[in-house]
Amino acid sequence: MSGRGLILGIESSCDETAAAVVEWGAHTLSSVVASQIATHARYGGVVPELASREHLRAIVPVVRAALAEAHCTLADLDAIAVTSGPGLAGALLVGITYAKALAFAQGVPLIAVNHLEGHIHAVLLQERESRGGERSPVDEQALALVVSGGHTHLYLARSADGSWHYSLIGRTVDDAAGEAYDKVAKLLGLGYPGGPWIDRLARFGNPLAVPFSFSQIKTKAHLEGKPPRTKAAQTAPIAKLDPRFLFSFSGIKTAVLRHVEIDHLRPEAEARFARLFGGQLFSSGQAEENGEAKQRRAVPSLPETREEALALCPQSTLDLIASFQHAVVGDLMKKTFAAAESLGARRILVTGGVSANRELRERFGVEGARRGLRVVFPKLELSTDNAAMIAAAAWPRYQAGEFAEAGLSADPSLALGR
Ligand code: KG4
Ligand code: ZN
Repeated sequence: MSGRGLILGIESSCDETAAAVVEWGAHTLSSVVASQIATHARYGGVVPELASREHLRAIVPVVRAALAEAHCTLADLDAIAVTSGPGLAGALLVGITYAKALAFAQGVPLIAVNHLEGHIHAVLLQERESRGGERSPVDEQALALVVSGGHTHLYLARSADGSWHYSLIGRTVDDAAGEAYDKVAKLLGLGYPGGPWIDRLARFGNPLAVPFSFSQIKTKAHLEGKPPRTKAAQTAPIAKLDPRFLFSFSGIKTAVLRHVEIDHLRPEAEARFARLFGGQLFSSGQAEENGEAKQRRAVPSLPETREEALALCPQSTLDLIASFQHAVVGDLMKKTFAAAESLGARRILVTGGVSANRELRERFGVEGARRGLRVVFPKLELSTDNAAMIAAAAWPRYQAGEFAEAGLSADPSLALGR
């Protein structure tokens, strides 16, 4: 224990194994992320068994690299923070078990962090860093949109005396926005994760070519009192939330599927997938488990120019992609700004993997400026999963002495806030 306010953060909730050392909750000394994209890309999604196996392989070298980059040793740490949920049970357990063992061996406290709170702290960490690592707590409040592969949640985040409190304002009733990106990308033969592909290809399409309407983004299930349909939607009750702030992205995914069928785009998608990944679209992780597809391919690079985009997709597909993204970003904006207005929030934090999206950043920025609201995003490497955000979120808990029990376990559907 150094008394230097050093927290080692560990994150393994999905498909990134990450470790970081953050000082005083305000200075990132190191942040190492081992991505599993090469493992999951051709399955169109994360294969949980493969994710756990990859975390087991990566966790020790990733933690070692984070300590080395921060020029410290385990003996210098004041606490160890780990994501305890939500996420994949097996993946979470790898991080939790390792973090527990390290904390026990070093005799330092273990701090459990909610992954969603981590995403919110990615922005707060960056703000503290830009203020020169100011340590004194500032009482503040912000509306936070956490938009990732597993979540599309709106929270009112408030800090008082250094502790943060969260109220759930809105959420998806079915798929998360990132999940819709990933599913649409899979339908179009673009691999996983789909967000970066769609983001890049949308730049070369006409966003108004296909009029996806917001009525396709249904919130009916909620209004009829039906239970949420997917796991992602089960982490908190929706009945008490204002329907104006509920999201739904399964309708637009189905609308894209309809286009794929009506316009006979499947052969085109199959050919694109084979070209990019050298395999068969819609194969399952089982194939690799059975040893049928052992060889790992490098992740193909995103197209840079219109010519490269057109070599990959005909203009009509680029238009479909651009229209999908335009509708999703429009819906995220409409509901987020309506919530900010209704709550009187002056500051909006947009975070999580989808917040890396270029169109989203541009349009949120323009609308925020028009309304006189501050819209803040994490830098790109803090938008997607990382462990600096976990160490940063742990800092107020460390100061408050809120430590995890020895029996800490993974909670795949851990909710944040009330
Ligand atoms: O936060 P994250 O790394 O992991 C989760 O907590 O889910 O988010 C991953 C999600 C994936 O669905 C991925 O497709 C999406 O973020 N994503 C993007 C972009 N980069 C990543 N979506 C849209 N545009 C992007 N540039
Ligand atoms: Zn995440």
